[in-house]
Amino acid sequence: MDLEEFVHSLNEKVLLDGADSFFSEKENATLQWLVRQTHVRTNHAKMLVGPDEGAFLKLFVRESSKGLSSVRILELGTFTGYSLVCLASAAREKGQGSSVMALEINDELKYLIDSAVTKAGLGHFATVKFGDAKTLMHSMMYKCGSFDGLPDLSASSGEIFDVIFIDANKREYVDYYNLAMPLLKKGGFILADNVLWYGKIAAAESGSQKLDPQTKGIMEFDALVRKETEKGAVESTLLNIRDGLYIIRKIS
Ligand SMILES: C[S@@+](CC[C@H](N)C(=O)[O-])C[C@H]1O[C@@H](n2cnc3c(N)ncnc32)[C@H](O)[C@@H]1O
Repeated sequence: MDLEEFVHSLNEKVLLDGADSFFSEKENATLQWLVRQTHVRTNHAKMLVGPDEGAFLKLFVRESSKGLSSVRILELGTFTGYSLVCLASAAREKGQGSSVMALEINDELKYLIDSAVTKAGLGHFATVKFGDAKTLMHSMMYKCGSFDGLPDLSASSGEIFDVIFIDANKREYVDYYNLAMPLLKKGGFILADNVLWYGKIAAAESGSQKLDPQTKGIMEFDALVRKETEKGAVESTLLNIRDGLYIIRKIS
């Protein structure tokens, strides 16, 4: 099944299982608590992926890992932990050996992330590492540093993740992609969030808006993914969910 067919089958699942189960698998008690806490304690609640994309991430991991015995996920940009809880729930469904490694630069968010993960009972399936995502991925690539929750890096090929979710600094998406590819298994997926960037990409393309560094970062990323797709290194498609989610499958 190619990527378009796979995404189409996910869409069918959404429709067949009912817009019902997809859209009504809204937020469990932990996610509702986390949304409230995020509003109370931060000024950036709009950064949360929210219920529809959160449900989609979980569904995506479940469906894309069907032929695997376990699933290993890397998340870049955790914020207060909403997408982490969704991804780690999918890892828990998959069972032993499955996990999410989350990278977040702001350690002041530790309390909220830890509380959400604990409340959701996902402690065995989620590990958060605080620091710059690029530096941490670099350490993984060169197999230095210790990463609880990951297999022995020195004994592995380096291609350790089945899914990498990119949602950190929009200026750095190109760097994240270049660091993610060697860490991703062949056939694995990169999911990149906010690629429509609240309409700013369309505005920039029509020349009606000056380019800010984040918009520029996403546009450069989009150009890179197109080039990689043409080269046959990846398959890619853009899903018009929330602020745009790129789905990229590594071919070689
Ligand atoms: C859009 S938010 C992530 C939202 C989160 N995925 C969710 O659904 O709740 C982006 C996060 O990336 C983090 N971030 C920004 N630059 C980063 C970097 N260089 N390394 C790691 N995290 C970074 C920010 O601190 C912020 O928490």
